[in-house]
Amino acid sequence: MIKTIRFFDKNDPPYDAIALPNSWYFFCLSKELKKGRKKIISIGKRQIIIYRGSSGKPYAAENICPHMGGMLHKGKIRKDSIVCPIHNFEFDKTGHLQQTTFGIKNRGEMCLERVPIVEKNGIILFFYHKYKEAPWYDITFPDTENWSDISFMRLAFNTNPFYLTQDVSDTIHYAAIHKFRNVRYIQPPVTDGAKISSRVMMDGYFGLKRYDIEVNHQSIGFGFGVNETTATELGLTIRYYILSRPVTRSRMYLICGVSIKLLENFSNIHPLLSKLPKKLLTKIITPLTSVALYFHLKFRDRLYWEDRIYTPPTQGVFGITNGAHINSLNMYLNWSDHFYCEEDKLPKTKYTKVQR
Ligand code: FES
Ligand SMILES: [Fe+2]
Repeated sequence: MIKTIRFFDKNDPPYDAIALPNSWYFFCLSKELKKGRKKIISIGKRQIIIYRGSSGKPYAAENICPHMGGMLHKGKIRKDSIVCPIHNFEFDKTGHLQQTTFGIKNRGEMCLERVPIVEKNGIILFFYHKYKEAPWYDITFPDTENWSDISFMRLAFNTNPFYLTQDVSDTIHYAAIHKFRNVRYIQPPVTDGAKISSRVMMDGYFGLKRYDIEVNHQSIGFGFGVNETTATELGLTIRYYILSRPVTRSRMYLICGVSIKLLENFSNIHPLLSKLPKKLLTKIITPLTSVALYFHLKFRDRLYWEDRIYTPPTQGVFGITNGAHINSLNMYLNWSDHFYCEEDKLPKTKYTKVQR
């Protein structure tokens, strides 16, 4: 796991930090939360605790005891309940007060503020809403059959999930930032509720040989995205999980997972490789892919994400594929509205095609 943390004074953001979108975000990996253990994270001005009860089920809540504000992360886990460290009140798996210090059973109104979570594919996500409203969409996890185990890396950037997700809807960035050639849409971004997806083709090189690379992207809200990159001629599909969690409005953790699917004709990479077992091949390809991904995130996408100033676009641009790029940026801005409270919505000016 690679960690990069830069010094950052959150009281003096380098750019005009935009609000935190209301969304499902990464909490931690399943393996990081053992039975009877707990973890806390900060998001904005809030702290959220997660613990795994003896049944194996994870529970999350605001890290504040409703009695007199004790910090629950200093308390104990008892079966599927959590006990506050201040007066030992015990809250059950529904969050209700189960018993007080004097053994008084009381299922009255005192209740933890539970936070919605979901656990699948070895990942735990939680739902953040500025006013603690219930989630209005679900996460659909991709199926993992015939895919290698996910290998994760964790980084931190001075940015906001808005720019991270905008990145993948912005076709031009594949050419400008990642230096791919001949970038074109197969499917310009389409939205469906909380989902935004697109398919892009570009030229990739393996040695001197040119290959078609297809990038199939889907984001569900701001904290969960899956990018599948296929080089059919090489017989290889790489799935990137793009998970994020904002800490403040201008600081964000990015958790990237890499998983490999070997197609039948992977011997195209090299004929000798067809003799190796697929499991061993994925073990070789995964770290190589992770290093390449790290390079792109750290030295290329970072230019895109960090220290941005949000300005509603006023200059028209010539897009590619008959203006599909222009439409995609408009679509992204409109889609992003779903995740902001009314007072936090970003100002917009429609992109227009430049007349020459
Ligand atoms: S503050 Fe938690 S039990 Fe009193
Ligand atoms: Fe990128």
